[in-house]
Amino acid sequence: MPLVTSTELFKKAYDGNYAIGAFNVNNMEIIQGITEAAKELRSPLILQVSAGARKYAKHVYLVKLVEAALEDTDLPIVLHLDHGDSFEICKSCIDGGFTSVMIDGSHHNFKDNVALTKKVVEYAHAHGVVVEGELGRLEGIEDDVKVSAEDASYTDPAEVQEFVESTGVDSLAIAIGTSHGAYKFKPGQKPQLRFDILKDVSKRLPGFPIVLHGASSVIPEFVRMINQFGGNMPDAIGIPEDMLREAAKLSVCKINIDSDLRLALTATIRKYFAENPSHFDPRHYLSPAREAIKNMVAHKIKAVLGSENRI
Ligand code: G3H
Ligand code: 13P
Ligand code: ZN
Repeated sequence: MPLVTSTELFKKAYDGNYAIGAFNVNNMEIIQGITEAAKELRSPLILQVSAGARKYAKHVYLVKLVEAALEDTDLPIVLHLDHGDSFEICKSCIDGGFTSVMIDGSHHNFKDNVALTKKVVEYAHAHGVVVEGELGRLEGIEDDVKVSAEDASYTDPAEVQEFVESTGVDSLAIAIGTSHGAYKFKPGQKPQLRFDILKDVSKRLPGFPIVLHGASSVIPEFVRMINQFGGNMPDAIGIPEDMLREAAKLSVCKINIDSDLRLALTATIRKYFAENPSHFDPRHYLSPAREAIKNMVAHKIKAVLGSENRI
């Protein structure tokens, strides 16, 4: 099966009260772990690539690895640019085989965000590619850029209709209290999401797919493992799974997960070396890491996304 866009996947997800997992990919083992889980559970998938991932692995390697996964699994897969911050990077991914791009104009004012997003939409749609825009700003770290709590801002529901209508975007990322990275809430703080904002946005955009970034749960088992096997992570708190499941039943059709992949991989490799200090064959420590990713993604598909058996 060739790569697909998210149009049909989101329509079904919206109507079926579930969400599609958008997992960040950086290398072969991560792609294999994610796609093997989705294949076994017959779940559609979004594989997303950040600017940092393209820099690390090179665009062509990631595209070819995803093409290999398509051949191996026959799944409906979307290849998506995560957090494109300029027209040029979006164009490069559109020209280079992606079926979906995000233009993240959330660091601009409303007017400039609209203008940039509209420009990307025009180019993308002319090439059969769909576009995710963003309104509101998430706290946290992406690609070494740190957005502080003061600079973060919730999405203003009063702006969403005008943004979607004047840009023509196909989906919209909103800020309701999720954030990037492993430290989403302060120790002792009770995780909370602004479901009132989500519901208000959905009312203003009936049937329109909403995206949640920063949606890792920062699975405590992996944080514990990292600290048990030589790491030193301070208290890390993520988004509770039941809140994400709730959002997936509403208008949220895409849930972004990267930190949980990183934690699964790192925790497993740390454990492996603690137990096998003299080993040095990468296949030996990457095999259990890939398996841990597969199990973690299978868990997300079943318990968080609700996307099992949706093909
Ligand atoms: O939201 C950002 C993703 O976790 C990607 O992170 O920019 O370090 O690849 P990255
Ligand atoms: P996490 O850091 O919560 O995994 O978020 C990932 C993300 O939003 C990628 O765009
Ligand atoms: Zn993100």
